[in-house]
Amino acid sequence: MLPKGESDPNVLVGFDDADDAAAYRLADGHVIVQSVDFFTPVVDDPYQFGQIAAANALSDIYAMGATPLFALNIVSFPRDELPLEQLSRILEGGQAKAREAGIPILGGHTIDDKEPKYGLVVTGTVAEDRLIRNSGARPGDVLILTKPLGTGLIATALKHGTAPDDAVEAATTSMVTLNRAAAEAAAEVGVHAMTDITGFGLLGHLLEMCQASWIQARIVYESLPLLPGAEELARQGAIAGGTRRNLAHVKKSLLIEGAVSETQQFIAADAQTSGGLLMAVDPAKADTLIATLKEQGTLAAALIGWFTQTGAPRITLREGQ
Ligand code: CO
Repeated sequence: MLPKGESDPNVLVGFDDADDAAAYRLADGHVIVQSVDFFTPVVDDPYQFGQIAAANALSDIYAMGATPLFALNIVSFPRDELPLEQLSRILEGGQAKAREAGIPILGGHTIDDKEPKYGLVVTGTVAEDRLIRNSGARPGDVLILTKPLGTGLIATALKHGTAPDDAVEAATTSMVTLNRAAAEAAAEVGVHAMTDITGFGLLGHLLEMCQASWIQARIVYESLPLLPGAEELARQGAIAGGTRRNLAHVKKSLLIEGAVSETQQFIAADAQTSGGLLMAVDPAKADTLIATLKEQGTLAAALIGWFTQTGAPRITLREGQ
């Protein structure tokens, strides 16, 4: 791909930006926002897997402040090894979430493959001045997270057969929940920067925001919203390979203050599937945003930290306030 700017002045967000979706300006001042995501099953039930994959793919559009318009399916499935009924259930789950988001799925592509995989290409739109990037965070902004952390730990424990039922249930509820209401609250109140928390974990996606905004952040561990069982499973070692890579990747930009154990650092770096939105908001608007998020029924509306100063991207993770 050509570098942004050298190729086309209408490319607002491209490959180099490490943002949630590509954004391309149309002639009328509107912006097309597009993203693709698909993965292997994270839960046993095919319908729930379809719901999770679709909610996760839609999330990148919401994270840009955009409204989804339509989607296409991306599917791989071992036709000769698994009953086709399972494929139907996956697609029905995705369809249900698309309907909830108010968009149609207009087509797609399926290939034969050893392992099932499912996801969506989602196209959305937003007025250019309403596009929310990860580069707008300012010193003093507070950080708000809209879903609890721990889906990676619980999905890993589920594969090992050690996940408690209530943890799996809470993680599934979280992963199937659209970030639509949270994004609407952000648009209503106004935020400076936003991204969704997925594979790179809270620390990885926050570091991307710090890099894009050339800013430093402080996170308070005890303020992080966690799924039930997440801490216990982390102590038992249900750490996904991706989570270990996330922590190793952010380590050179991470400063620990107080008694934050390595287990707790893994929780902060836990690779999420269909995680919440992370918002940078003017401290004067924080109470209104939290109240609006709660009114909208988001799973969490947790103030987890703040941005301190401009400068070389750095995250301080501290034990308490
Ligand atoms: Co994203």
